[in-house]
Parts: sequence; C-alpha cells; structure tokens
Amino acid sequence: MPIHATNTSWVIETANTAYAFGLNEAGCLVHRYWGARLPSVNDYPPPANPAAWSSFNRPAQLTREEYPTNNDQKFIEPALTVVFADGVRVAELQYTNYAIQNDALHIELQDTYYPLRVTLVYRPLVGYDLIERSAIIQNTGQESIAIERVFSAQWHLPYGDDYRFNHLTGRWLDEFHIRREKLARGVTVTESRRLHTSHNHNPYFALDRGSADEDQGEVWFGTLAWSGNWKIAAEVTDWASTRINIGVNDWDFGWELKPDTRFTTPISFGGYTAQGFGAASRTLHTYIRSILPHGDTLHKVLYNSWEATFFNVDVESQKRYAEIARDLGVELFVVDDGWFQGRDLDNAGLGDWWPDAKKFPDGLKPLIEHVNGLGMDFGIWVEPEMVNPDSDLYRAHPDWVIHFPNRTRTENRSQLILNMARQDVQDYLIEHLDKLLTENNITFIKWDMNRTVSEPGWPAYEGEQREIWVRYVEGLYNVWGTLRQRHPNVIWQSCSGGGARADMGILRYADQIWTSDNTGGTARLAIQEGFSQVFPANTMEAWVTDTEPNLPVTFRMHVSMCGSLGIGANLTHWNADERAEAAKWIAVYKEIRPIVQLGNQYRLQSVQAGGGFSAVQYMSKDRGEGVLFAFRTHIPDPINPLSLRLRGLDPLSQYTVEGFEGSRSGAAWMQTDSLFTLKNFESTVRRIRQVG
Ligand code: GLA
Repeated sequence: MPIHATNTSWVIETANTAYAFGLNEAGCLVHRYWGARLPSVNDYPPPANPAAWSSFNRPAQLTREEYPTNNDQKFIEPALTVVFADGVRVAELQYTNYAIQNDALHIELQDTYYPLRVTLVYRPLVGYDLIERSAIIQNTGQESIAIERVFSAQWHLPYGDDYRFNHLTGRWLDEFHIRREKLARGVTVTESRRLHTSHNHNPYFALDRGSADEDQGEVWFGTLAWSGNWKIAAEVTDWASTRINIGVNDWDFGWELKPDTRFTTPISFGGYTAQGFGAASRTLHTYIRSILPHGDTLHKVLYNSWEATFFNVDVESQKRYAEIARDLGVELFVVDDGWFQGRDLDNAGLGDWWPDAKKFPDGLKPLIEHVNGLGMDFGIWVEPEMVNPDSDLYRAHPDWVIHFPNRTRTENRSQLILNMARQDVQDYLIEHLDKLLTENNITFIKWDMNRTVSEPGWPAYEGEQREIWVRYVEGLYNVWGTLRQRHPNVIWQSCSGGGARADMGILRYADQIWTSDNTGGTARLAIQEGFSQVFPANTMEAWVTDTEPNLPVTFRMHVSMCGSLGIGANLTHWNADERAEAAKWIAVYKEIRPIVQLGNQYRLQSVQAGGGFSAVQYMSKDRGEGVLFAFRTHIPDPINPLSLRLRGLDPLSQYTVEGFEGSRSGAAWMQTDSLFTLKNFESTVRRIRQVG
C-alpha cells in the first residue's frame, strides 16, 4: 500500500523509499521522515512538538512544516505568500481533511479566516522510487487574492547542517557542470530569471552528507517539471534543519487569483537512495524515459547540415549532403536554420514559417522526396517563439512581442520574443507549423529558442502583468502540445542555443534535448557527464562536428556514441578515410544503441573530477550486454594506465570484455581493476557480453 493515511498521519511509500508527515499536537502539518522505506508503518518517527523557551524562540522556528506560509515567527523561507484583498499579508493555514484520488494523496488546508484553500498533492511513483509533489491554491471567495510566491514543495531532509549541495551550473557553450558544495547556514539559491530553464543552472538538486560517491552514500535528490523561471532555495536553519524549496521563481512573479479560480504549481519530483549519485541518476533516467512522448523508441542516426552550410541552404547543396550522409549510414536528414522566408542571415525571417521562395521555388517537397528516396527521414529546424523585426509577421503585429511601452526593445541576434502568453500568438504558430507538418513529410523537428528575455512587459494584458512568466510557459506548452497531438509521429527536439531548455516539463513534449552548442569532443565529455546526472542518454542528442578538427574522428565518434548519435560536420571536407571511419562507427552504433539509449548508465571515471580520463558504461536492463567507452584527453606522460571496475553486471554470471582474454565472473569484473592503456586523445569502445 503506497499511501498510508489516518486523520493525523500520512506515509507515502515507494518500492524502496518513504516520506512521512503528520499533524503535531498544535495541529500543524509537519514533516516526519524522508529516507529508506522501513519495515512497518509504525516505524516512522512521530511529529515533533517543539516548545518555546524564550521570547526570541517560538516553536514555529523549530517546526518543520510541510508547506509553511509566513505566519507566526518562523523567519524561514515560506512556500506560499499571498496578499488578501484587504491588504492582509499573512495566510494562516489549518488542516481540514484528506482524500486519495488517482493514486495521489490530497491534503486540504484552509485559511482560518479568508477564503483560501490549499491542496498539497503527493503521488508515489512506486516502481520508480520517486514522489511527485505539487500544490493547488484556490480562491473560494468573492475578491481576488494576490499570490506573491507559490512553490511546488518544501522538501525536508533529516536534521543536520552537514549537507553538500550538488547542482548543475554553466553557461552557453559550457552547460551542465556538476558542483558539489557544502551547504552553508542560511539560504542558497539557484534559479532562472531568463524565461527559459537556462544554460546557467538546471532545476536539479542532490544533497548528500559529504561522502556519497557514484556507488554509495545517501543522496536526496529532485527536480522540477517546468520550462520557465524556476527557483531552488536550499535553506539550513539556525537549528540545523535543512530543506529544499522548489518551484516557479518568485522573482518578478505575481498572480491575481480571481474568485473561483485555482493556481496549480508545476510538479516537483523527489527521490532518495543510499547507493550514491549513480543510482540517483538511473532513477531519474528510468522515470524520464517513461514520460517521453515516444517512450523507448530508438532514435535514428541523424545528419544536420547547419555547421556545413549555415544559412546557405538550397535544394542542390542539401541533396549533396544528404547523399554523402546516406552513404555513411545516416537515417534522418535535418535541414537547420536558413530554409524559411527571407532567412539569408540571422537578421531576418523569423516568424515567417514558410519555405523561402528564392531557395525553394517549388517548396520543400522536391528536397524531402529526394531525401526519402535515399531511404532517410526528413527533419527541419524552427524557432517559433522568435521574430525578427525584419519579417512579415513583425510588420503586421509589432505588438505581439514581449515589451514595455516607452522602453527599448532590446534585440539579441536581431530578434525579439513573441509573447507566447497571448492566444493570438499561439493560434498563429499552431496554424503555420501545422500547415508545414501537414503539407510535408517531416518526421523530426528541432525547436529552438535562441535568446533570453528583456523588458518583460505585456501592455495589452489588463490583469497582473507579472503573470507573464507563467502564462508564457503555459502558452508554449499549449502550442507544442497541440502540434504534438495533431502530428503524433513527429519526434521533437528541445533546443535553446544548446541545453538551455532541458527539464522534465519539456520532456513531456520533446523526446530529445540539444545538449549544447559546444560540439567539441573534449568539452563534450564534461558537458555530457553533467547532463547525465538528470537525463538519460536517449534524450541526449550528440553530434560529431568539425569543432575540434585535430581530434581523431574516432574520438569524436565515440564521444557522440554515448548519446543519440548525430553528425553535424561538413562532410564534403572529409576525405575518404574519415568517411569510412565514420561509417564504421555508425554501423557499430546501430548495434549498441539499444544498450546506450535504453540501458543503465554507470559513470566509471569522471572527467569533471580532473585527471584527463573519462569512462562511462551502459548495460542492458537485463544485464546481458554492455558497452564501455573510455577516453583520454591530454595528460603529460608518464602516467599509470586507466584502471576501471565495471558496474551493473550479474555477479554470478560469466562475462567477456572486448580486448581482454577469456571470461570472468561479473563479481570479478566489478571487484578487480581492469587496465586500459590510452595515448593522449585516444579512446576505446569495448563490448561486454554475458556468456554464461
Ligand atoms: C542555435 C542552435 C544551433 C543552430 C542555430 C541556428 O544556436 O543551438 O544548433 O540550430 O541556432 O541558428
């Protein structure tokens, strides 16, 4: 029974974890436990009843409330702050009742005076060992209530102020670096204020007691299904109570909760493991695969001509690239930016989503038919949320962009952002993209978003202006969701100048993420390792390009074979040997891709930890087959060989590993070191096979 409920006590259990809370003697909804599942429901600690002991220390400071507001004297980060119509700025919530609906526990709280109802939703994802949390804020009265902050959850950890905050940070071209930092007393914030999820931080947290590693140690982790401004506020109180607030960012946020309406927060996910960061990642990977629109569908090897032709797209050149790509074994040919009306450079055309009359006088069909005739699928790039001032769309609707009157409309890459919160903008995009997909045999779309926000105004909106942050994302989901419903076979990729829109919200619409605009093989080792903390390899689009031309083709191929393989190089510049090398590895990739894309991933050697080596292993879910990639970047000789212990094998079965003599037990491969001698910028891929 995953939800144990009485009128005062609730325990949410997954296969191996549990989260418990209940009412204390003061009637306050307080946290009790988050960790390993215990044998009996009576094993979880009872709610604490802190007492006051001085005029400066009220019990509220010690109470670990599940969803605190700013009443009493807490001086901690509240999960919810509102302003009532009469100016009162404090909500006082009291438990009223609970219900179990659709496998989720709903806890109802009611303000003691005002018509404000809060429903906390907890859903155990039992087999996945994750718990979903969200909140519904409802106005049951006659006057509006202003919401100033509304987080999805406050997750409490066992008492202690010795936690490490493990998070992902970076920049454009350099996303997803894992940082492991001691959580100081006070509040530590990671967030996005950029309208998209951001290159700079990802809404992911993992807390450990300072000693977890890939294979062992307690880790409490989570993330948020949201593709706009988000915030994580990790707080360690004066009393060594550590908690994570996660949700829509309250920075510049506002929401008018009108009578009889509700605000539903995005879902946050939380998980616990005692098996280290590797197990935490595999838990997220397994669940994320289950929510992807196309689930376990294997991704095709693609070729994207962007880095070969940039904006010089025309039928003849694209046909040529398609033919070379086909000869290498590519299965999906993608035309990137530059194909639509007026798009000769980055300063014009965005918004006019029909084929450029000059470059494609007969539309896209002749090229698509050629590509299909070569036996490949056809895909295309769009950037729906953007508009260039030099476009028919902007000339007709200059008021459709995000802007304030009397303020500069700051351009980035000569483009402005369409206000996706507007219904007319959503309708326009649905109409034009639907037409593109209806008229053409397109099976793959790369959806890009190439700038961050400025002047976040919505002059035409008569309500609370600061709702734009949330309504924009809802509009984005509506457009994407409608198109996905109308064209269910299309595979969508979420790109935002690389990995700035990588989150569990967008992965309900997109099957893949464009990991980074940085496609250099050595840089990618670190970026991919960070990405894999949260996202599975099938969502990680990885191209081989000419960014680091001196790196061996083999090395570049191996790096990209760790995800969903693509080629983005200018293949006309590759000589026969290089093309043969690429073709050879594409063939190998097709054999191993079920293991890479859908198997369990083990980070054997961290490149982010320094030292120049990197190694990652993938095992099929049944542990029958695996593949190991190892890389050496630059390290001055002499050095020891790379020594690795395999992971995820059945200890009692026999396995062979390519390059090593004979078979050994899984236990032997996992408990003893295997040595790999690699030269600078050399890499290796080894098949692992269960043989008995
Ligand atoms: C972004 C993407 C690139 C490419 C260009 C096209 O930068 O990340 O892969 O699609 O836009 O303008």
